[in-house]
Amino acid sequence: MAPDLFVRRARPADAGAISRLNNTFADDGQMLTRSPETIAIAIDDYVVVQDAAGALLACGALKEYSPSVAEVAAIAVSKEAHGRGLGRAIVGAVERLARMRGIHDVFALTLQPEFFSAIGYERVDRARYPEKIRRDCLGCARRFACNEICFARNLLADAMVPRAA
Ligand SMILES: CC(C)(COP(=O)(O)OP(=O)(O)OC[C@H]1O[C@@H](n2cnc3c(N)ncnc32)[C@H](O)[C@@H]1OP(=O)(O)O)[C@@H](O)C(=O)NCCC(=O)NCCS
Repeated sequence: MAPDLFVRRARPADAGAISRLNNTFADDGQMLTRSPETIAIAIDDYVVVQDAAGALLACGALKEYSPSVAEVAAIAVSKEAHGRGLGRAIVGAVERLARMRGIHDVFALTLQPEFFSAIGYERVDRARYPEKIRRDCLGCARRFACNEICFARNLLADAMVPRAA
């Protein structure tokens, strides 16, 4: 990621900008629509990438389902900034938030399988996450025609990978 960009936790004043960025991908169904109000309620769960001028170029959130399981959710990178490592950086920031909260099992339901594969996630059966299915999938209008693919990463296993000599 370019040195003039930095990753930080979101603040309440970011809710409008996060909503605008998220919703640029909602019209064509790539993301769920999220209002500033919905985001403000969960602002402690969001991280952002900001440029030197203060513009938000990327966002993401950690959505907790149990004390040990959370979703890497609402990942969005501004269209002009695609392909510059911001997606990888924002997922890394969401993972750091998960570790800080003692959560080591993170997953994503996504229409971008190549992205999650490229950053080291493993494709898994969504049945592994009954908490997600109970809370969100059962009430979703697309539950019988869902084309999202489930990816997961065990952050504890990552931490235990031995260093090369
Ligand atoms: C998916 C998205 C977050 C990727 O962000 P990005 O900043 O362009 O991704 P990065 O530059 O960090 O790429 C990281 C890796 O993923 C790969 N990658 C990213 N998007 C890809 C795609 N659509 N197809 C194939 N590979 C992709 C990159 O080539 C790179 O691999 P490398 O490190 O081996 O070169 C971005 O395209 C986006 O915001 N899309 C719209 C919203 C969306 O679909 N969000 C995901 C919801 S779960």
